[in-house]
Amino acid sequence: MSAAALAGVAVLPGTAPAAPAAASALPPVNQYAAVCAACHQASGLGIEGAFPPLAGSEWLTGRPEVPIAIVLHGLQGPITVKGKEYNSAMMAWASVLNDDDLAATLTYARSQWGNRAAPITAAQVRAVRARTASRTTAWTAAELKAMK
Ligand code: HEC
Repeated sequence: MSAAALAGVAVLPGTAPAAPAAASALPPVNQYAAVCAACHQASGLGIEGAFPPLAGSEWLTGRPEVPIAIVLHGLQGPITVKGKEYNSAMMAWASVLNDDDLAATLTYARSQWGNRAAPITAAQVRAVRARTASRTTAWTAAELKAMK
């Protein structure tokens, strides 16, 4: 699905039907602009020294488990992205984004700004969510490297 098509899915205020369809029947929504762009920027370039880039990021475009785990539980401490050091923290989104929307958001980011990584499915998100359900702290880069 194209970004434009995904953007067109956004719900406009006042347009909700009187009897909304079951949540599971709603199409997945790409939340990049609403949730991720505040830090990683609409350009995907981030802000040097503060927010690492998603454009060309080896963490985002590698094994699907890694970016799924990052968005579900957050990330903290030193990390090198595209040869540059960051040492900050990103919050967890597990309780905010459902499997469909998290998959759509990561699929969007993995296909923008020159990124050419495979789409991520809701089933993949569900599996990582289940496997890491007991996790209460953000990941470190070292832990994610072991997952890569
Ligand atoms: C409030 C700011 C903020 C928001 C919002 C945010 N992030 Fe992050 N993100 C960060 C920071 C800061 C780091 C680096 C953490 C560190 O230094 O350990 C990071 C790291 C990452 C990384 C690993 C490094 C890289 O650049 O690839 C990925 C992937 C990522 N974020 C994806 C996302 C996605 C997808 C969203 C939206 C669902 C999102 N982030 C929302 C601040 C944010």
